[in-house]
Amino acid sequence: MRIAALAALVATTTMLSPLMAQAPAPTAPAAPAAAAAPAAGDAAAGERVFAQCRACHQVGETARNVVGPQLNGLFGRKAGTVAGFNYSPAFKTPAVAEKVWSPENFAVYIRNPREVTPGTRMVFAGIRSDTQIADLTAYLRQFAADGKRTQ
Ligand code: HEC
Repeated sequence: MRIAALAALVATTTMLSPLMAQAPAPTAPAAPAAAAAPAAGDAAAGERVFAQCRACHQVGETARNVVGPQLNGLFGRKAGTVAGFNYSPAFKTPAVAEKVWSPENFAVYIRNPREVTPGTRMVFAGIRSDTQIADLTAYLRQFAADGKRTQ
């Protein structure tokens, strides 16, 4: 019984080891470390967070504009500039139009899109968890502008 439990623990730890390599101690829960360093997200977990976006946004080589613009190559691209997408007037105000998406301003935006960009057509309450935002960022930054995965 004990050995089986130990074997399961070892298997789990082995699976997680790439993630845990940077964690201060293998037994410590990941949450505090992740909160302290929101940039180090987990792309696989981010893909699950992206389920909340998928009703309106696509990524990948076949991504099209649907309810929202496709999100390929998001970081480094100017806000409101996807060809063929009809943005709301809110996205054409100078404050938004001059914004270049970075992990930092994306984290602020996705926490509360309607507060950051009043009048936006993105009807989404926001994500409060720093860990989920970091994971989502890691997932999205995998997609180059042409939708190919860079990692
Ligand atoms: C109900 C539909 C909907 C959902 C759900 C949604 N969005 Fe959006 N999103 C939109 C629309 C519509 C726009 C364009 C906003 C406008 O024109 O005001 C947008 C715009 C954006 C932009 C700006 C894109 C650009 O080209 O500048 C980002 C980034 C974004 N969404 C990310 C997300 C992420 C990440 C999620 C999930 C956590 C999400 N959205 C969930 C509809 C949605």
